[in-house]
Amino acid sequence: MRVEVRGRQAVWFLDGRQVLMTTLPERSVEGGLALAVGGGTVSFDDVRVTRASSSAFQRVDAERLAVVAHRGASSLAPENTMVAQEVGRRSGAEFIENDVRFSRDGVPVLMHDATLDRTTDGTGKVGTLSAAQIGLLDAGSWFAPAFAGARVPTLAEQLADLRTRGGSLLLETKEADSIEDIATVIDVVRAEKMTGRVLVQSFDPQHLRWVRALAPEIPLGLLRDKLDADPVAVSKELGLAMYIPSGVALEARPGVVGDLHEAGLGVWVWTVDTAERWDRYDRYGVDGIITNRAGELTGWINGRGAGTGVSGTAPGGPVALGP
Ligand code: G3P
Ligand code: CA
Repeated sequence: MRVEVRGRQAVWFLDGRQVLMTTLPERSVEGGLALAVGGGTVSFDDVRVTRASSSAFQRVDAERLAVVAHRGASSLAPENTMVAQEVGRRSGAEFIENDVRFSRDGVPVLMHDATLDRTTDGTGKVGTLSAAQIGLLDAGSWFAPAFAGARVPTLAEQLADLRTRGGSLLLETKEADSIEDIATVIDVVRAEKMTGRVLVQSFDPQHLRWVRALAPEIPLGLLRDKLDADPVAVSKELGLAMYIPSGVALEARPGVVGDLHEAGLGVWVWTVDTAERWDRYDRYGVDGIITNRAGELTGWINGRGAGTGVSGTAPGGPVALGP
């Protein structure tokens, strides 16, 4: 038996064949990982522990393309709400992506736009209302009547749900005027004991420098809508774990995926919603795909493995996969 643990993912192999996987490995407070047995007795007389060579965000093997639910499962539920998160989780997404802004009283809340108008029944800039006032808005009716009453979560509420029900967070800082704003976000992540399951991404390199200064233990991803001349150099300068270009941007030079892998980084692409483009970026070798259609991407990955005897992913865990 072989158990491979990378970042938040553990995969079990028996005689070389994958039999179990989980994105919620149970760890002791010191970070130890146990071999637990339910309903039986086993003994292990030859246990060897070796350090994995590649980055926590690089694919373990060809099948382990990470599914990242953009703003939650935002093709099926109102973006950046708890219901979108739950649907994303049940759709097999390992990560939920969000967008973080600040209320008037400085509370980090989930909102993509600078204003409340598109996705709530409120109006005006997010920062004109207190967190309590934002919490009363209807963030679901704009999407469909069935979602009436969905609320705008605070970052703390989102993290508490992920901690207790499973999943990791790709946290996008949409605004930060100073390092104090970033410190507020980090304080929430730490208070929720989620530093081990959060990756911070931003289009603004300054946000990432501030995160690195305050919380070097939190991995970082740089969002790009055009490739840098030298993505590896930029990644090293910023201390990134992940380079995150748009799929279209990556098409200009797919070879940068190999360069970034060689430098120890992972590569995710945004925001990709068709099987034709999932296939294209999968062939480029990306490690994960940010999508509005998490369930369909999970199905596409699993379906691809069906004919090869390779097991697919499942949310939560551990879960036995296939006969
Ligand atoms: O995760 C990347 C993607 O979310 C960046 O664009 O505008 O959807 O935040 P946007
Ligand atoms: Ca985003």
